[in-house]
Amino acid sequence: MPTKAITKPNVISITLFLLLCFVSVSVLAADPSKWQRLEDDGLHDPSNDALDELQQPGDALSGLPYDYAGNRVNWIKALQDGLIAPRTNLFPDTSIRVIDLDIIMNNTGEMHLVRFPHRQHTEWLDCNNCHNKIFIDKVDATPVNMFSILQGEYCGRCHGAVSFPLTECNRCHSVPRNSFKGQFGAQYKEGESREDFKVEAPLE
Ligand code: HEC
Ligand code: HEC
Ligand code: HEC
Repeated sequence: MPTKAITKPNVISITLFLLLCFVSVSVLAADPSKWQRLEDDGLHDPSNDALDELQQPGDALSGLPYDYAGNRVNWIKALQDGLIAPRTNLFPDTSIRVIDLDIIMNNTGEMHLVRFPHRQHTEWLDCNNCHNKIFIDKVDATPVNMFSILQGEYCGRCHGAVSFPLTECNRCHSVPRNSFKGQFGAQYKEGESREDFKVEAPLE
């Protein structure tokens, strides 16, 4: 069978191409010039000499896992990989509660279903940040919709402000409708029920 041998120059150019891809990705991840400098951010006074005392965002953030959106840090990964360890409480008796409970939201029209993960949120936030002022702690009791989110309500209170922007549709709309076989709403594991996830002293 006449198999066409890959000629040497080809192998070299493929290797070079792959190498270049790799190099440009890793340079992107570490290049502090990807971050706007303080003197250009429209907030700091560029004529103030004291600016030199402040750390530039690029210097502070370029060592963390890169994200192309928002402030270019994948904070979830930074926390997961132990690269940052934010203080959880000021007072030793404050209880820290991380829960692992996904909510699948199906009122998404033509879009993929929304998976809201409690775990990743409660690693950063207390229940009272959301319950019950932004979201009632009962599935479907809050009239969440995309228009209000884009107006800065519900998920939009944080997303687009302090967490990844609303242009990242697929990070929320992450579950293809036809791939999801379970029940919509709270994804309790075997033996769990809503009783196990009571919000203590919710803000009314
Ligand atoms: C921060 C999370 C988040 C992001 C980002 C997001 N959505 Fe949504 N979207 C939701 C939630 C939550 C709902 C309501 C789901 C429910 O109530 O079942 C929704 C609902 C929708 C709906 C259903 C109709 C409606 O008005 O509610 C559409 C269409 C939609 N989104 C489109 C988009 C598009 C397009 C983008 C990107 C430009 C986007 N979404 C980005 C969370 C998000
Ligand atoms: C970032 C916001 C946010 C935080 C923080 C948060 N939740 Fe939720 N929670 C939600 C959303 C969104 C829903 C779904 C609401 C809906 O479907 O209308 C929900 C739903 C629930 C439900 C309803 C489940 C059901 O079966 O009806 C419970 C219970 C709950 N959360 C408990 C908690 C507890 C306990 C904490 C703290 C350990 C917490 N949540 C932290 C946003 C949050
Ligand atoms: C009180 C603030 C707050 C609200 C409200 C909120 N989020 Fe988040 N969300 C965060 C923060 C903080 C992070 C982690 C940092 C980041 O990824 O930007 C996060 C991360 C996420 C992630 C990424 C999880 C991962 O594993 O990478 C998803 C998905 C998400 N949010 C969806 C939602 C949806 C859907 C809603 C509304 C139903 C919502 N969030 C409401 C603050 C919030």
